[in-house]
Amino acid sequence: MPPYYLTTPIYYVNDLPHIGHIFTTIVADTLARYRRLAGDDVRFLTGTDEHGQNIERAAAREGVTEQQLADRVVARYHELWKTFGISHDDFIRTTEPRHEQGVLELIRRIEANGDLYLAKHEGWYCSPCELFYTEKELAAGQKCPVHGAAVEWHSEENVFFRLAKYQQPLLDWIDSHPESIRPETRKNEVRSFIESGLRDLSVSRTGLAWGIPFPGYPGHTVYVWLDALANYITALGFGAEGATAEIPDTGAEPSSLYRSFWSDANREAGAPTRIHLMGKDIVRFHAVYWPAFLMSAGLPLPTTVWAHGWWLRDSKKMSKSVGNVVRPDDLVARFGPDALRYYLLREMVFGQDASFSDEAFVDRFNSDLANDLGNTASRVVTVTRGAFGGKTPPLSCDDNPLIPVARQVVADYREAMDALAFQDALRALWRLLAETNQYLVVREPWKMIKAEGPTDALARILWNGLEAVRIVASGLLPFMPTVARQVLAAVGTTAVPENLEAMAWGGTPTAAPLPELAPIFPRIDKEKFMSDLKSSAPEATPPVAAAAPAASSAPTAPIAPAAPAAPAAAAVTPSEVTIDHFFATELKVGTVKFAERVPKSDKLIRLLVDLGEETARQLVAGIGKAYTPEELVGNQVIVVANLKPAKLMGVESRGMILAATDADGKPILVRPHAPGAPNGTRVK
Ligand code: MSP
Repeated sequence: MPPYYLTTPIYYVNDLPHIGHIFTTIVADTLARYRRLAGDDVRFLTGTDEHGQNIERAAAREGVTEQQLADRVVARYHELWKTFGISHDDFIRTTEPRHEQGVLELIRRIEANGDLYLAKHEGWYCSPCELFYTEKELAAGQKCPVHGAAVEWHSEENVFFRLAKYQQPLLDWIDSHPESIRPETRKNEVRSFIESGLRDLSVSRTGLAWGIPFPGYPGHTVYVWLDALANYITALGFGAEGATAEIPDTGAEPSSLYRSFWSDANREAGAPTRIHLMGKDIVRFHAVYWPAFLMSAGLPLPTTVWAHGWWLRDSKKMSKSVGNVVRPDDLVARFGPDALRYYLLREMVFGQDASFSDEAFVDRFNSDLANDLGNTASRVVTVTRGAFGGKTPPLSCDDNPLIPVARQVVADYREAMDALAFQDALRALWRLLAETNQYLVVREPWKMIKAEGPTDALARILWNGLEAVRIVASGLLPFMPTVARQVLAAVGTTAVPENLEAMAWGGTPTAAPLPELAPIFPRIDKEKFMSDLKSSAPEATPPVAAAAPAASSAPTAPIAPAAPAAPAAAAVTPSEVTIDHFFATELKVGTVKFAERVPKSDKLIRLLVDLGEETARQLVAGIGKAYTPEELVGNQVIVVANLKPAKLMGVESRGMILAATDADGKPILVRPHAPGAPNGTRVK
């Protein structure tokens, strides 16, 4: 199996993730899943970038240690990746010993090659970029050309890397490797940046405690980008004993990953593809500095540095400082993680910028997912079930007008996926859905069953419908792993495809059970959705460290804010209820997947609770004085699942968490006596 190594950038831990951050990982996951289906030996890495001045400053601002800050944000990333079904093989943190060990080995090699020296360094420093700029490079008003933020004058003695020495080798690499930097526009930009002249790069900082001590230069820490970029090989065991020599594999465990996925020495399985995915803002680090470090250390270079565009909002890059970020939680709670995955990959031409809008999101959801995918599947399943007694039709069909369409669609899909043109791949699948719809509309099987009963002709038509949807769902596996499986099961295919051959015509079984179809993407009422959005509070930036105290301006809230008004005093003694009355209230076991304070409230906590439903439920509970968000996550709770939704401080609550109170009136959560009840279990 050809080795295929793909990586995302490692994320800074001074910010909570927004859709711009999760995008690269969703793309990488889609690609990893596709390459696995294509038969490659895939290794998929993501992780976090935890050192440097930005983290140091953020931790100081929040009154926590750098490690505490990192641990919290990392926990959030783990949780998010779980929600989105990210199938990474490894998660590297730059504070791990295995990483530090590898960084030291990389520096040792660079030093041995004579590429480091000490010199005075003065210049304009952008702290968010962790980069020096020359006067000429600054934007108008002496601002950072990337962030538009104020820069600071720094003057210090640094360790320098002889980057200028690699100017020509870098140009040669780019020119002799057409795939080295994608897309072409980025390649041209990087090429002209190099051609305009490279200056040596300062790779140490003084006066910065939060970093890896620079070996051989006391008082210096390793520049955060040299530290961070190394993650791509330290995660493979580079620097671990015996791991780094370019010699055939001896089978020693720590070295085998490096040998399989980075070294060119292991030719048996073919030279590995080594692809780094990232946003365009950090392409220079990956396509100039990183290859130069690797050349200096005598190590193989990435095969492709792939830079995608930015997610914009109102034509501006999303950023916390601008206050226009889109966070994934609400979208996930409302539409499910797969719908967000679909939207992000469908809406962006990979490589160019794209703009996020709530309206476009609902439109795509309704037209592509609810209508094209959901309705086509449900239509054909419903008619088939009615006609053939809850089974797939007894006949298959290998001669009909959908076959050439499906063949072409699969070829286009594969070509697009191989080129990372995700939007085109989805478009191709939707062409097959449209043709299938048309095929059914023209033949009207729902009328045929009434007029003629379950004839052979009807069997073939319906089988064709199921088969076309099966092929679409197989192609959707990399994009929407959960939903694609649901659709496959819905059209009678129980075995999840393990390779791309499954997209060939003919896989739907005959006379196989066809269960009743649960709605996959119920249509969203757009008007209501948009007006709900307007009336909800504007997004406040959540603190990075959840322990930061929230300002209290909220009126005292009930524990379970969505509860109906308390009965009048005279009616306080509860009357007897029948079992039917009791059962009218749906109590369910759930697990808290996410919790954060509602901005400007010291009592309210917003929770996402897994009730065994397709998406986690959003609830708001007045338990913030007794519980911190972190201690709630992972705990089981009991939820009134059929309570009428209500809004608290602009946040919708779709249910209520049960709690008792202690003598001081503090809430005590009620939960199952022992773990083990599956989420969604009815409590009775
Ligand atoms: N820590 C560095 C990367 C080191 S890799 C050795 C970093 N981290 S980051 O958290 O700031 O950004 C991570 C990724 O998110 C980058 O690829 C960046 O381009 C991407 N995005 C952040 N905001 C984005 C958008 N608004 N849109 C699309 N992606 C953007 O940089």
